[in-house]
Amino acid sequence: MSAIEKRQNLDITTIRKQFPILNRKVNGYPLVYLDNAATSQKPQMVIDAIVDYYTNYNANIHRGVHSLSQEATDAYEQARKKLQQHFNAAKTHEIIFTSGTTHGINLVANGFTTLLKAGDEIIVSALEHHSNIVPWQMLCERTNARLLVIPMLPDGTLDIDAYDKLLSPKTKLVFVNHISNALGVINPIQSIIQKAHEFGAAVLIDGAQSCAHIKPDVQAIDADFYVASAHKMCGPTGVGILYGKEAWLRKLPPYQGGGEMIAEVTFEKTTYADLPHKFEAGTPNICGGIAFGVAVDYLNSLGFENIEAYETKLLHYVTDKLKSISGLKIYGDIAEKTAVISFNLEGIHPYDVGSILDKLGIAVRTGHHCAQPIMDYFKIPGTVRASFSFYNTMEEVDSLVSAVIKAKQMLA
Ligand code: ALA
Repeated sequence: MSAIEKRQNLDITTIRKQFPILNRKVNGYPLVYLDNAATSQKPQMVIDAIVDYYTNYNANIHRGVHSLSQEATDAYEQARKKLQQHFNAAKTHEIIFTSGTTHGINLVANGFTTLLKAGDEIIVSALEHHSNIVPWQMLCERTNARLLVIPMLPDGTLDIDAYDKLLSPKTKLVFVNHISNALGVINPIQSIIQKAHEFGAAVLIDGAQSCAHIKPDVQAIDADFYVASAHKMCGPTGVGILYGKEAWLRKLPPYQGGGEMIAEVTFEKTTYADLPHKFEAGTPNICGGIAFGVAVDYLNSLGFENIEAYETKLLHYVTDKLKSISGLKIYGDIAEKTAVISFNLEGIHPYDVGSILDKLGIAVRTGHHCAQPIMDYFKIPGTVRASFSFYNTMEEVDSLVSAVIKAKQMLA
């Protein structure tokens, strides 16, 4: 059956009942939560999994002979298996639990300290979040490698011709997000990866913004590393994954030293545990890992083809409506994007618009979205960003549009 044949309409009314927070009011208005790119809301089954862990089998893992420890270990390792299947990693030990996307990026950046030499080159894109810029700058400071940037074009896409010219035998690492958090633009990661591989460079893809919208297949895209956070995917904060091809994970040294990541410790010499534990020093976020697995089960029960189809409808609806407001400019208004709208009202500061929306119960993010180079490119202090999820409704889009018109009348 093709993806299109499998597509079903999501029952949004039923879905919304699974998210208790969506019932609440903010400033006397029903909450309209449009800050999903910052973090997603959590369905009852994820909340229940967290309560169940702490109520019934809280224990440390991989350490105890007792039953609770065994139950917690089994649940945690089962979650790793679910994540392996979800991301389509070839091996379970290619999934490293992290505290989130930023942790995964720093783990890889730290590891490359031993693999780079002065004059080597790292390529990042102009569309990156600060967490995808700063660790590479720090790596360059440690190694005297050079950081090169794929520039962006006025429509918010990457200048792929310029990328082609940046690649060379000196390129050792390419780092690009799958979807820009500030604009929602989807990057052509498959061809970016393939071109980097022609020069023998490793590629790390930041999936923080894509994983709630698109089911990743790390083998199909041939990523060397892929990072994601549970909290963007209906899971809890403080947990994420780093996927790495086994060969790369074996080459990288451990990131942090501590318990759990060792094979044997003496004062003369320590040997390290095998994958994945080599990168998992200390007691991990056990409950978070288990709840991450439950969140992934939840998303898969809805079906990513259904999520994508519904969110695309939402995106078209909100784009058309917002475009009808004079003086409103959308940044990154292209076909290849997810349901994220970054916009400004002419002559009005985004913070002022966001504050009025909040008074009306509408949650959006305003500012530079931790992507200052994008704002500098457009010569703006920031944008208003409305980011959607499958639990948002067309009525909520209408509320947003009315509130933006009201803000414009009040502030113009
Ligand atoms: N990276 C998150 C965002 O884009 C926090 O809002």
